[in-house]
Amino acid sequence: MKDALEPRGAVPPLFPSNPPAAVKPVTVPEVRGAKGTARRLVMLTAYDHPTARLLDAAGVDILLVGDSVGDNVLGYSSTLPVTMEEMLHHTRAVGRGASRALVVADMPYLSYQTGIRDAVRNGGRFLKEAGAAAVKIEGGRKRTRIVRALVEAEIPVMGHLGLTPQSLHVMGGYRVQGKKVDEARALVADAQALEEAGAFSIVLEGMPEPVGRAITKAIGIPTFGIGAGRFCDGQVLVFHDLVGLGAGPLPKFARAYARIGDAILEAAKRFAADVRSGAFPSESEVYSAPAPLPPKAAGQEP
Ligand code: KIV
Repeated sequence: MKDALEPRGAVPPLFPSNPPAAVKPVTVPEVRGAKGTARRLVMLTAYDHPTARLLDAAGVDILLVGDSVGDNVLGYSSTLPVTMEEMLHHTRAVGRGASRALVVADMPYLSYQTGIRDAVRNGGRFLKEAGAAAVKIEGGRKRTRIVRALVEAEIPVMGHLGLTPQSLHVMGGYRVQGKKVDEARALVADAQALEEAGAFSIVLEGMPEPVGRAITKAIGIPTFGIGAGRFCDGQVLVFHDLVGLGAGPLPKFARAYARIGDAILEAAKRFAADVRSGAFPSESEVYSAPAPLPPKAAGQEP
């Protein structure tokens, strides 16, 4: 074991627009152009730097800094309390960890619903200050003016339809949307309106598979399903669901590929037991002195 404290590796790029030479970053036009091809797009949420680096290295196409940071990381009971400053903070951390993946930042509740001016100012901050390449906003036809204004300000927009968590109280809970025929038709019309307004892709959350399929067929931009069935152009999951780190039960649509929560619990229990028994640290885990210390300095004399 070395005694000197050394940095753990190369300094990562500050923003994804500044990647190592060999890495070709995923771009908004590339995502948009995947529609109608055999390529199935992969998106995961990420909220911090180490996770961003791992997901980027795994080849994930898009890192979504979701406002689900509120319930998954910050301990809120919904996404509603999440602030712009919190979203910028987490987006910066993710941006510094992404070399290839496109970083998309979620605009938090009341950062865009209050009007075009707020939407453009706040949306632009994610590109200007935090290293994101695009933003995501929730809602359909009632948001098209905002989508247009963002796109006019050179801010690429990902839409989000169906179960939109910022509408929690309007929906009366986290409920699957579009179960009735008129609701399903409204969702298709919303998706078409978002495309027409200039969105480059749309997240479809919490809707019956046939509705996800119908929307995906009806528009010329990629859809990302999360609880919207198998026929979307790509899929997105919340990172904490993917790795088994969430607090509650796994939603029906999610699949846990690891049990990281259990591994963390086990590691912390073993550390606590080793500290209490004196088994940690061991001789190999301490720094040695270059020469034997005099007894007083070594704490052997009063
Ligand atoms: O905030 C988030 O994690 C999201 C995904 C569920 C798409 O919006």
